[in-house]
Amino acid sequence: MELLFATANAHKIEEVRAMLAGTDITLITLLDRTDLGDAPETGDTFEHNACQKARYMYEKTGLPAIADDSGIEVDALGGAPGVHSKRFSPEATAEANNALLLSKLDGVSDRSARFRCVLAYVGDHGERTVDGRCEGQVATEASGTDGFGYDPLFLPNESPGRSMAELSMDEKNAISHRGRAFAQLPQLLVG
Ligand code: IMP
Repeated sequence: MELLFATANAHKIEEVRAMLAGTDITLITLLDRTDLGDAPETGDTFEHNACQKARYMYEKTGLPAIADDSGIEVDALGGAPGVHSKRFSPEATAEANNALLLSKLDGVSDRSARFRCVLAYVGDHGERTVDGRCEGQVATEASGTDGFGYDPLFLPNESPGRSMAELSMDEKNAISHRGRAFAQLPQLLVG
């Protein structure tokens, strides 16, 4: 079946294509359908934004659509940056976001954090969401070159001594928030 994935994030697309390899799902993304533009993302919860993005694309194309909204919640920052993870710093680049996170946690001993991902489906079966989490700690310095976003600063509890950016894509997908959300995709698609 064809599914429209409402993202133009090449890293997310690469991860999700690897997860769906061998299934009968053909993923169409906003990199394939540049005519569709960006989906709006104006809510203050992952659920709201994921549903908003998928609903927008379903209404525009009639294709069953999925969208994920994700980010990092840092306990010592009261759950920030959360839904604002992409634009945490004024520059909104991974480097600037990571530098800002490190500066906000300077001297802070509680470094517990989690990645969260809410995956929404909007299509002929209505609207549904599932979510995935990955618990860990924010490192005191970046390490690793794989992945994207906050990966070089995130130390998953399930990969002791290695940041998310030091894991292979298969290793990341096995424990990540996005991997755990997409593992539930089959139950979103049943009528
Ligand atoms: P959005 O889900 O497209 O709104 O983006 C959320 C933002 O959260 C990204 O731009 C990254 O900064 C961060 N983020 C989400 N998932 C990951 C991940 O798997 N690794 C690192 N950063 C992530």
